[in-house]
Amino acid sequence: MSFRLIPSDLLAMATIALCWMPASGGPGGAIAFPHDYRGWTHVKSALVGSESSLFATEGGIHHIYANSAAMEGCRTGKFPDGAMIVYDLLETVETRGLTVEGTRRRVDVMVKDSHRFSESGGWGFRRFLGYYEAAPISSPASAPQVCFGCHQSQSAHDFVFSTFRK
Ligand code: HEC
Repeated sequence: MSFRLIPSDLLAMATIALCWMPASGGPGGAIAFPHDYRGWTHVKSALVGSESSLFATEGGIHHIYANSAAMEGCRTGKFPDGAMIVYDLLETVETRGLTVEGTRRRVDVMVKDSHRFSESGGWGFRRFLGYYEAAPISSPASAPQVCFGCHQSQSAHDFVFSTFRK
C-alpha cells in the first residue's frame, strides 16, 4: 500500500514540527547563534596572556561586537530592545614575536529583551562553543544566572562592561 502527501498534510506536518521545537529553557534558553555578528561594529579587543589569573577561561584574544541597536546603547548608556553584543574569544598563536588569531574558543552573547529577560536587567545571556559548531554550552559556569551575577556590577551602564573606543 502507498499513500501520497497532499499540500495541506505538509502544512500540518510543518506546523506540528514548529510547535515541537523546544521552548525557552530559562533566561537564555532560546537565544540563537548570531551568524552575522562579524558584520557588526567592532567595539574593542583585549589580549589575555598566560600571566593573567583569568588565563584558564579567558586566555587568548577577544573581540567585542555590537549590532546597530547596541551601538545606540554604547552612545546613550541605555540599550534598547533588540540590542545584541558578542564576546568572541579566540586562541592566539605566537611565532617569533608575531601573534595571530588561532582557533575560536567561544562566543558569548547578550540580547536585550526587557519582557523576556525582565529578571536579569532585560538581558538574556548565552554561551556557544566555537563558530562552526555554534553549539550552546550548558554547564553550571555558563548558566545565565552566573553571567548576570557578574554583569550586575555594571548596573550603572545597563549591565555592559565594554565602552566603545572611538
Ligand atoms: C566573572 C565575571 C563575568 C562572568 C561570570 C561573565 N562575564 Fe561577560 N564579561 C565580563 C567582563 C569583565 C567583560 C568585559 C571584557 C572586556 O572588557 O574586554 C565581559 C564582557 C561580556 C560581553 C561583551 C559586552 C560587555 O559587557 O562588555 C558579553 C556579550 C558577555 N560578557 C557575555 C557573557 C555571558 C553570556 C556570560 C555567561 C555565559 C558571561 N558574560 C559571564 C565578566 C563576566
